[in-house]
Order: sequence, then C-alpha cells, then structure tokens
Amino acid sequence: MKGVVLAGGLGKRLEPLTRITNKHLLPIYDRPMIYYPLQTLVEAGISEILIVTGGANAGDFLRLLGNGSEFGLKHLDYTYQRGEGGIAEALRLAEHFAAGQPLVVILGDNIVERSIKPFVERFAAAGRGAKILLKEVEDPWRFGVAELRDGRIVGIEEKPARPKSSYIVTGIYLYDAKVFDIIRTLQPSGRGELEITDVNSVYLQRGEMTYDILDGWWTDAGLPETLYRATTLVREGILGQPIPSIRDSQSAIHDPR
Ligand code: DAU
Repeated sequence: MKGVVLAGGLGKRLEPLTRITNKHLLPIYDRPMIYYPLQTLVEAGISEILIVTGGANAGDFLRLLGNGSEFGLKHLDYTYQRGEGGIAEALRLAEHFAAGQPLVVILGDNIVERSIKPFVERFAAAGRGAKILLKEVEDPWRFGVAELRDGRIVGIEEKPARPKSSYIVTGIYLYDAKVFDIIRTLQPSGRGELEITDVNSVYLQRGEMTYDILDGWWTDAGLPETLYRATTLVREGILGQPIPSIRDSQSAIHDPR
C-alpha cells in the first residue's frame, strides 16, 4: 500500500495564523502539524508517501521534510494543488503516484493517539473497496457523519444540521485504485468543493465500504480551538500528565522528551 497526506487548502479558518504560512506547518506542541499524519503512515508500515500541498508556502514542506530521512524514509513525493477545490480534488492529484495500487489517505490536520496499522493490514488483506475509520465525538455536526443501523453504515452526510449519529468519519481513508474513477464522476458541492463524503457514498452504495472504530483519541486541528486541543492532547501523551500548574510546566520545560 502507498500513502497520501493531503495538506492543501488555504486554512482560512485559522486566519491570521495561516496568512503567512501553510496550516500544516503550524506547531502542534513541539512539531509542525504535518509531522503527525506523516508519522502515523510511517508507523503503519507505509514507506511510499506522497504529500499534496498548496498555497504560497509549498516550498517550505520540502525544506522541512526533505526526502523524509528523519522519518526513516528513503524518499518522499510531493505535488501541488492550486486553490482549495476540496479533499477529493486534492486526492485526484495522487493518481499518477498510486499507479494502480491501494492507498491510505490521511488529512494533514488529523492527529491520532494510537496506531492505525491493524486497520491498514485488515484493508490490505481484503484487497478491494474502501474502509473508513469512525470516531464518536460530541460535536458531530462539524464533520462527515455516519448513519449506523444494525452495526452497518447506511449513509454518510457532510456537516449535517441534525446528525443521525455521534459517529463521525475521521480523515483517514483506505481506497482501492477505483477511487480515481469515482472522483472523475463528482460534481462540486454547494461550497464549491469535490467532497470526500461523495466518494465514500459511492463506495457505500456499491456495497464496497467497510468501517472500523478508531482506538484512542483523535482530533482535527483546523480551528483555533482544535489546534489548541491537539497541542494539549499531544503534550499530555508525551509528558503523561494533564494540563499542569505553572510550577509543573516549569519542570516540563527542563525535561523535554
Ligand atoms: O477531519 C475529518 C473531516 O475532514 C471529515 O469528517 C469530513 O467529512 C471532511 O470533509 C473533512 O472536513 P473539514 O471541513 O474539516 O475539512 P477541511 O476543509 O478543514 O480540510 C481538511 C484537510 O484536508 C486540510 O487540512 C487539508 C486537506 N485539504 C482540504 C481541502 C479543502 C486539501 O488538501 N485540499 C483542499 O482543497
């Protein structure tokens, strides 16, 4: 399997932080955001990885990540998305890279606590269709929401005003190579984007979609509030303690990982 990190888009919901840099280069605790999804793929055993980025600071990804040696990679691929035509539009740029192989796709602002390796292995064994990873959250209306019946997904809605469950579709997707044919059939949504939820709905209608529930915590980091939350969760994971008093944070300063 190959991997794709989608780090395009303009990050407007993080203005003015994103006025002079790409959202995925902003810090989450002690690393740039892009490090986390990249590490998630590498840890899952993926060694051929494409980064799709965009905007005015795309060159900074190359300066930051180079050939990926810091992650134990021999090589990293990069490509460029103009504008922000949607997650599915960004994924379309990976067709040449995929060269007919199945893909693990992760959004550049998605950060997970635990390994996704078991899910990747299960999908690779199945060898076809698609798999999404769900997570129960308190604010499902911000996401793609799965409607579940008798343990099966029967529908997915993007940012519904009245969510049909509290299980959301995280930004980690596993697809066979048919995903690119599906993307070619999409029309832009009301917000002018090619929606990944529309891709997932096609797999669902074809009966080719499976799902798993993600273990551990999961967050996106595309809003000031979730950027802060991501930093807090990562920090707690590293230091093994909740938000410290001022005195505790002094000792953390002297005891970096
Ligand atoms: O985080 C999970 C959610 O991500 C899913 O539940 C939703 O179904 C999915 O649509 C998406 O929702 P968001 O509204 O949070 O997506 P956002 O526009 O913030 O984009 C998330 C990442 O996708 C972003 O960090 C980089 C990548 N992206 C996005 C767009 C719009 C691109 O690479 N190119 C793009 O044009």
